[in-house]
Amino acid sequence: MISLVYVSTSSGALAAEELAALQAQASRTNARCGVTGMLVYDGARFMQLLEGAERVVNATMGRIQQDSRHQGLSILRRDEITERECPDWSMRVIALPLTAAGSATEFAGSLPGEMAPETRMLFTSFASSAGKER
Ligand SMILES: Cc1cc2nc3c(=O)[nH]c(=O)nc-3n(C[C@H](O)[C@H](O)[C@H](O)COP(=O)(O)O)c2cc1C
Repeated sequence: MISLVYVSTSSGALAAEELAALQAQASRTNARCGVTGMLVYDGARFMQLLEGAERVVNATMGRIQQDSRHQGLSILRRDEITERECPDWSMRVIALPLTAAGSATEFAGSLPGEMAPETRMLFTSFASSAGKER
């Protein structure tokens, strides 16, 4: 199996319904082909973790890269893995900030227990800089 994490820039702000539709479609397709992971969206940028059989993750990334809802996609990490970090999530979507205060503790607590410290660090630093580029 492989695991990868990328960041990208949203082409335009996605409404809550559009994000919900993206999640529904992605998690349905991922569940069918054995892909798991999570997607964090801060209104301007995405960070996504995808994991599964190499061939399937590559095919999924191929489709994601063509998607006009985002651009400037950059892969931060790509590793061979034996254990999944998000075994229970066909595609969990977290929209930031979680609360008006944008609590970092609340975000860290929502990550799966299986998640490696390095991955946790990537996502929590993404979450703590959410919105700062605007
Ligand atoms: C940020 C983002 C994340 C996505 N994540 C997934 C995903 O995990 N799995 C998936 O099948 N499609 C995902 N999609 C949707 C794909 O880009 C694509 O629209 C979908 O797979 C349908 O592709 P097709 O029209 O070529 O069949 C994502 C799209 C975006 C913008």
